Amino acid sequence: MWLRCGCPSRSVSTSLRVLASPLRVLGLRRCNTAAFMPESAGFGGVSGRSGLQEFSVSSSESFWAAVARHRLSWIRPFTAVQDCDLSRGRIRWFEGGKLNVSVNCLDRHVHTCPDRVALIWERDEKGTEVRYTYRELLEMTCRVGNLLRRHGVKKGDCVTIYMPACPLAVASMLACARIGATHNVVFAGFSAEALADRIRDAQSSTVITVNQGVRGGKILELKKTVDIAVQSCPTVQQVFVAMRTDNPVAMTARDIAIEEEMLKEDVVCEPATMNSEDTLFLLYTSGSTGKPKGLVHTQAGYLLYAAFTHRYVFNYHDGDVFGCMADIGWITGHSYAVYGPLANGGTTVLFESTPIYPDPGRYWDMVERLQINQFYGAPTAIRLLLRFGNEWVNKYDRSSLKTLGSVGEPINTEAWEWYYRVVGEERCPVVDTWWQTETGGICIAPKPSDPDAEIVPGMAMRPFFGIKPVLMDTEGKVISGNDTSGALCLAQPWPGMARTIHNDHQRFIETYCQPYPGYFFTGDGAYRSVEGYYQITGRLDDVINVSGHRIGTAEIEDAVVRTTNKPKGVFAFVVLKKNVDVEEADLSRQLNDIVSEKIAKHACPDFIQFVQRLPKTRSGKIMRRVLRKVVELDLDSLGDLSTLDDPAAVQEIIQGHRELL
Ligand code: WTA
Repeated sequence: MWLRCGCPSRSVSTSLRVLASPLRVLGLRRCNTAAFMPESAGFGGVSGRSGLQEFSVSSSESFWAAVARHRLSWIRPFTAVQDCDLSRGRIRWFEGGKLNVSVNCLDRHVHTCPDRVALIWERDEKGTEVRYTYRELLEMTCRVGNLLRRHGVKKGDCVTIYMPACPLAVASMLACARIGATHNVVFAGFSAEALADRIRDAQSSTVITVNQGVRGGKILELKKTVDIAVQSCPTVQQVFVAMRTDNPVAMTARDIAIEEEMLKEDVVCEPATMNSEDTLFLLYTSGSTGKPKGLVHTQAGYLLYAAFTHRYVFNYHDGDVFGCMADIGWITGHSYAVYGPLANGGTTVLFESTPIYPDPGRYWDMVERLQINQFYGAPTAIRLLLRFGNEWVNKYDRSSLKTLGSVGEPINTEAWEWYYRVVGEERCPVVDTWWQTETGGICIAPKPSDPDAEIVPGMAMRPFFGIKPVLMDTEGKVISGNDTSGALCLAQPWPGMARTIHNDHQRFIETYCQPYPGYFFTGDGAYRSVEGYYQITGRLDDVINVSGHRIGTAEIEDAVVRTTNKPKGVFAFVVLKKNVDVEEADLSRQLNDIVSEKIAKHACPDFIQFVQRLPKTRSGKIMRRVLRKVVELDLDSLGDLSTLDDPAAVQEIIQGHRELL
């Protein structure tokens, strides 16, 4: 089941040159509009790539209608392009249309190029990669689809997938799409409790997992974690278990050995006819309250946007090998390891390992071995690797690389420069892509449309086609002009945006639509430069970004307050109740254990500072932005402290912080 082979072709690299400060990268290739975007004939004579961007925003309906007709295979064409009202949280695209997402990602490519490689599974064990062609992936998907159907999974049912990045996980996602079930992929680093929360909220009847995961040479007991989780999930009726390692695991009456059962299934599976707005998947992400939000993405709009952004943001062409390093448990893995590349008939890499296993050359060894053309990674990994020095990069041939992508958090200049100069040998544009689980795909990125595509390090730069960013001031008014900062909102709907929060549309409206009526509020702040380029400055709410992963401060607090010592606040800052007598080092260890057990290891604080009190406003709200600035040692930007109840609290914390360091 896990072994296949085949080899994709490569294509030419883009020519680039660099000018002086601020660092500028110019793409010298100019294409005519029709060659660049074949559907442009439907755009009413628009010429030039920047004209396309304007057209996509001013005539958004015509733009997306032409793109949707051209890029997706429809069972029945749509009758309305959109029916959206952001102020009411109503978002609908391509209604009346019917399609099947798995057919769009698999069957149509099997018809034209069945032996093209769809997936390259870069297993944890270096040098043991496995390739799957489109035909093989379709067959695997059909077997899983038939198996799920035989076990009673129906259209609209939710299947939770708790697996590391592997072909069977992708086939499981696509099998859900094939039979009209909803998938809910939970990152396989989440704890049993976090998994159970997500299974319960999604009311999932079926779970798919592996006996054990393997990451960085270590074994992860995923099946055991599922066993614990499902004890508190009455909706779960069956757990399918794949074998990633040879070690047997205890199987109960509820468990089904998926590979054995798949062999009994047919390789043809009738695709369900789905409405554009039927749910494709739920993906849980952290919000500013303790409860994670199950964001809902639907069929046509999501797929179209993932495919279209994949093609244009990364300049992806037929035959390229696309390497997205994100796990399938995050939205980046959904859109750019699975749906975008597969909808485009591309070859996509599924990375199971870590950037430093078995050594810090892992990524670049893989680039050489798999001949990766577009490499999409996270600043946290880049920062980690640059500390190990250039030898680890230079050892390997990276001439296949054409575009380097970054996502998840702002990329600092040092990391950007290293990525551009050392990894990309000053040949490859670095595309810093801003987006969110909520947006479904990339919304701001350096060069989707501009032929001269200047890139300024550390800036996401320009809106993607159909995206209209605006900055809001504290009174909720749109800020005009440049060289200014504000709350980042998107002024008009786009097909890839999330439609709601599972079972809680009110929370969707309150979080995204009410803060700035008529606009979609992203939760991020941004700066617009003199030239009109966007730079993301970070979250404005109580969501924090831990190595590119979103965690709600409230989630960590929820976990931490369950310790016997009952402290009452955390993110590195903990206030103990009066008269509590504990060793701080012991308590730090306990808190880390608790967070790891209740949420996941990646949510553990790196530093814990015990303080007497937290900076609060007079109305009792913790001023997290102040804490953040203290942590960043950016004391000149503490901002307006006039609403603080007692400004002395900040001085105490700064003092304590200096002592800690
Ligand atoms: C942050 C990940 C700066 C941002 C795709 C956003 C970024 C949150 C960037 C979404 C970037 C993502 N520059 N910040 N290029 N990309 N972010 O939902 O705060 O896991 O709101 O989606 O990550 O995280 P999520």
